[in-house]
Amino acid sequence: MQTRPLGSTGLDVTSICHGTSPLGNFPAQYGYEVSEQQAVSTILRVLDSPLNFIDTSNNYFDAERRIGIALRERGGLPNGFVLATKVDPQHGSTDLSGKRARASVQESLERLGLDRLQLVYIHDPEVHDFDEASGPGGVVEAMVDMQHEGLIDNIGVAGGPIDLMKRYVDLDVFQAVISHNRFTLVDQSARPLIDQVADKGMGFVNGAPYGGGMLVKGPDVHPNYCYSPASEETRDRVRAMERACAEHAVPLAAAALQFSLREPRIASTIVGMSTPERVEQTLELASVEIPADLWSSLDELAEPGRHGIPEMAS
Ligand SMILES: NC(=O)c1ccc[n+]([C@@H]2O[C@H](COP(=O)([O-])OP(=O)(O)OC[C@H]3O[C@@H](n4cnc5c(N)ncnc54)[C@H](OP(=O)(O)O)[C@@H]3O)[C@@H](O)[C@H]2O)c1
Repeated sequence: MQTRPLGSTGLDVTSICHGTSPLGNFPAQYGYEVSEQQAVSTILRVLDSPLNFIDTSNNYFDAERRIGIALRERGGLPNGFVLATKVDPQHGSTDLSGKRARASVQESLERLGLDRLQLVYIHDPEVHDFDEASGPGGVVEAMVDMQHEGLIDNIGVAGGPIDLMKRYVDLDVFQAVISHNRFTLVDQSARPLIDQVADKGMGFVNGAPYGGGMLVKGPDVHPNYCYSPASEETRDRVRAMERACAEHAVPLAAAALQFSLREPRIASTIVGMSTPERVEQTLELASVEIPADLWSSLDELAEPGRHGIPEMAS
């Protein structure tokens, strides 16, 4: 599978990354249980697949520990693989001070069974005060220090609201950025962030190409976009996309995934995968041929989608 440079990190990543948020077992959000065996089998399938990039987080419940089990079974992270995680408050707390960020990294190292981390992001900066986070004793300072100490090779920021993400990028200390749900068939509000990140030579990673499920399961089965109920206008727009895809016998999910894959400034697209079979399904969706006239119809339906995110989630 094709790899792309992740900005100036020196890491080459496959254009598809395995998103592990479902693997931690979080039935309240996902509506289903994921057993340890299912999670470990999914990671092992990814390690044996053409993909070389896994995205996780300190707070995806049990995900890191389960990834650690799979890695130990393989004798560590295979050569050429890239594993990214994120610093988070402890469950039930909102503290993401520099001190907590250090503890978060130590927890990740232990669970994953690694002695250094290739890439660590500040997770969901929107739930923290920017001045505190970027000031003395804050998470940004701690991340920079941990990088200088050699505990982390690269640092990044992973979150939602575009204007806030741009403020973090302007600190000029990060090498990579994750934006989620904001460069899809439904919403392209991440464009200014993609421009900024590309201008600075940083790596851009696009999370949630299906908007959390709507663009793969369809708006009638999965009416949420970006984890909140979507407007009727958005669902109608996606139904029109489904009809356009059906006319060409193309699954909507293939178009949703490839909408992100075809943007050359996106180094990798993170797809949430909860079972081993999803790995093959995703690779198949990535290889479906999409005719130019279907892209024209979809681009027309996609372009007004700068407001696809439900207000509460933006
Ligand atoms: N702040 C952040 O840093 C941030 C925020 C959001 C996301 N992310 C990253 O991005 C990843 C992806 O985000 P996401 O999982 O929310 O959204 P997503 O990738 O847009 O959608 C995932 C959903 O699509 C379904 N799906 C995937 N492949 C499918 C297939 N072939 N057929 C049918 N259904 C399929 C999955 O359903 P099933 O559950 O049925 O498998 C899952 O519910 C996360 O895991 C995480 O790593 C990061």
